[in-house]
Order: sequence, then C-alpha cells, then structure tokens
Amino acid sequence: MNITNLTEKKSKLAVIGMGYVGLPLALEFAKHIPVVGFDINAKRIDMLNRHIDPSNELDSSAFDNCDIHFTCKKEELKQASVFIVGVPTPVNKYNHPDLTALLSATQTVAESIKKGDYVIYESTVYPGTTEEECVPLIEKVSGLKFRTDFKVGYSPERINPGDREHSLVNTVKIVSGCDNESLENIAELYSLVVKAGVHRAPSVKVAEAAKIIENTQRDVNIALMNELSILFGRMGVNTYDVLEAAGTKWNFLKFYPGLVGGHCIGVDPYYLVHKARELKYHPQMINSGRFVNDSMGGYIGKQVVKRLIAEKTNPVGAKVLVMGVTFKENVADIRNSKVFDIIKELNDYGVEVDTCDPHASVEDVQEEYGVRLIESPINTGEKQYSAVIVAVSHREYTQFAETDFLRICNSPSLLVDIKGIYRGKIKTMKYWSL
Ligand SMILES: NC(=O)c1ccc[n+]([C@@H]2O[C@H](COP(=O)([O-])OP(=O)(O)OC[C@H]3O[C@@H](n4cnc5c(N)ncnc54)[C@H](O)[C@@H]3O)[C@@H](O)[C@H]2O)c1
Repeated sequence: MNITNLTEKKSKLAVIGMGYVGLPLALEFAKHIPVVGFDINAKRIDMLNRHIDPSNELDSSAFDNCDIHFTCKKEELKQASVFIVGVPTPVNKYNHPDLTALLSATQTVAESIKKGDYVIYESTVYPGTTEEECVPLIEKVSGLKFRTDFKVGYSPERINPGDREHSLVNTVKIVSGCDNESLENIAELYSLVVKAGVHRAPSVKVAEAAKIIENTQRDVNIALMNELSILFGRMGVNTYDVLEAAGTKWNFLKFYPGLVGGHCIGVDPYYLVHKARELKYHPQMINSGRFVNDSMGGYIGKQVVKRLIAEKTNPVGAKVLVMGVTFKENVADIRNSKVFDIIKELNDYGVEVDTCDPHASVEDVQEEYGVRLIESPINTGEKQYSAVIVAVSHREYTQFAETDFLRICNSPSLLVDIKGIYRGKIKTMKYWSL
C-alpha cells in the first residue's frame, strides 16, 4: 500500500457497505483521501447523494468537505487500491453466523482487486474468518496470490450508535495485518483519521478475537445483572438500589439489567460459540449469558400479567402501553429489539398492546415486526391503560413525571420501568422495575 498515492489522490480507498459502520468511516477518510462509498442498496446511495444518512446518525454537515463518490456500480470499485469491508454479519434463525453479505462483498472486491491492493475487514466475525473464509474466495475469484499479490487486515469498529462522546476519531482503534509490512501500512492508513491512535494487534486473528470478546464480556455481565434482578424480584428488593450500594466499592463493575437487543452484543457471542464448537469446546458461560438475556422479554411480559392479576385486572382485553421499541435509547435502530418479545408475551395472554416510539420508523416496525406504532398518547388525557411499560430510556421519556402516566391510565395502574429511570419518583401507581 502506498499511502502517498492515496494522499496525493492518485488512487482511491473504497468502503463496501454504507451503514452505521461504513458511512462515518468513509466520510472521515474522505476528509484526507479520495473515497468510493459502495453499497448494493440503490435507495441508500440515492439518499447519500443527497447528504442524508439513512441510519439517522449523522447530519448533512458530516458530508461537507469530503472527497467521496457514492455508488452501487461495481465497475467504479476498479479505481480503488484499498478496500474496507463493513457489511452486516448477522445470525440466522438458528443463531448461527450468516456470512452471506460478507462473502458477497468479498466476491465484489475480488472482482476489482489488482496486484498490490489491500482488503481490510471491519465487520465483526469469529476469529479466523478473514483468513479462512474470505482470503480463499479472493484468491479463487481474482486469481491473485495471498500475501504476494494482495494483503489483508482486520480493524474492528468500536462505534456505539447514539453515543456522541465516543467517536471513530477519539477512540483507539485496533489494527492488524497479515504480515509486518501490512500491519505498518494499515496502522499508517488509520492514523490519518483516528486521532486517539491505533493499537497494533500481533495478528488478524487476535484483532478478530478482541472485537468479539468486547461484546461477549458485556453480554455475560448484563446477563448476571438480569439474573440478579430475577432473584432480587423474588426477595422484594429493588436491583438498582442494590447496584447503587454495591457500586460504592472501587472495583465493582457498572453493569445494569435490561434487554439485550441490536446486532452486536446479542449477536457476537453466537459467533464465538460457533467457532468454539468447531474446536469441540462448549462454552457454558457464554451460552448461559445468551440464555438469560434472550429470556428477559418473556420474563417481563409474565411479570406484567402477574401484576395485573394481583390488582384484579383481567389481563384478557386489558390495555397496556409500551413506550419505546428500538434496541437501545436515542437511536432509530429496531434490529433484533427484544421489546417485541414483551409485546408477544402480553399478546399471548390476551393483553391488548399499544406501542409508540419517537425514534423508530413506523414503516420499518410494521414491515419487520407487523406492529403498528401509534402517536404517543401521553397528551390525549384518555384514561385507557391498565399499565404503561417504559421499555427504552429515550431522552424524551426521561422528562416524564408520574402525573403524565396517571393522565392516560385507569385505576389501578401499573408503571413498569425497565431501565429504572423513575425510581423513587412514583408514589401513586404500582411500580416495578428490573
Ligand atoms: N453498528 C454498530 O454499532 C457496529 C459496531 C461495531 C461493529 N459493527 C459491525 O459492523 C458490521 C456492519 O454493521 P452496520 O451496523 O454498519 O450494518 P448496516 O446494516 O448499518 O449497514 C450495512 C450496509 O451494508 C450494505 N450491504 C450489505 N451487503 C452488501 C454487499 N454485499 N455489498 C455492499 N454493501 C452491502 C447494506 O445495504 C447496508 O447499507 C457488522 O459486522 C457489525 O457487526 C457494527
């Protein structure tokens, strides 16, 4: 890789996949070197050409002063000498890794790659994927030889959607290469954009493993908090009160109970489990974390039904409002949101559920989950709900007071505060949090 060729605009960098990861990365590079932003989704490319981020994370000023060309035409990738792949790596319905997009993007790159080019992966994968799955495909399609004709690297993405504090630029980035030369070149390339500096991992596999354990560690720790919450619920003790007290010790880690959705924390551990199984190891801790976290939606739904019955409200036909459906606060992303597990559980018991969210797209929710979002009924003053579940702590919801909920609830009424944001503030309604 010749960085000068890029900085002197004699060749280009291509980013494959213009999503949460690819777009900010492409725009950041485009402040320094010429970039081709490639995606198979023509609708997305059209929006990007109008300086609209389809993921709703960046405003139009993020496109200012960028040397970038968005396209869905594969031929235009031939101008590039470095390819960065940031396409989705989900799991299938059996929770097994689905590498379809990754391999298809790899095929696209392999059709354009020339001698001396680099391919760097940013998609989250299990250790070994880059060199064992992607490299053989590139060799087969391009006829080029790994390390002699082209090199690969892996640099995991650490961005956190909705987080304005930790960005690509101010967070140390792990880089790796298939040999020393590629490691140094890739480190130099990323140093153009990552002001916090790069960490050189000794191999591609180490970098892949590092990414996957960042999210696995969070998953297991949140699962522990969820398990404690189930236990403390039986004891009649508020989990957040316990965590606040325990958190005064210097080495007590700050994790909280909650729904683990999205396409990172709830998905990545399955990639590690997949690799472990190939190696004849059955990881108990990681699987237990997945089991607990995947069960939380059903658990919360049942708790609501129990509490309705305790108040002599027949759950069949009772109306419940669920506020927030995105996988986390202040984002529009509904992928793999566990809020729909709560809704399903309630529906299974005959409860009628209304659902609203200030960030999620009505069309996307309808298409993905078959649920019709309504306008927030909070100001209607119509007393129609037996319970309100605040499932996501969107900034709009943190402003609410008990009077807001009382205006739309009949008596007796229940507030389910999954994230504990109204703790200590609810005096009249029945209150429950994880
Ligand atoms: N979103 C995050 O917070 C985050 C953080 C770290 C790592 N990651 C990882 O980064 C990867 C990408 O995630 P994302 O959230 O950016 O996904 P995304 O769904 O937001 O975007 C992916 C984009 O890739 C495009 N695409 C799919 N197949 C393609 C192909 N064959 N060729 C070209 N484009 C293709 C899609 O049209 C989409 O625009 C995943 O592996 C994910 O696990 C995501």
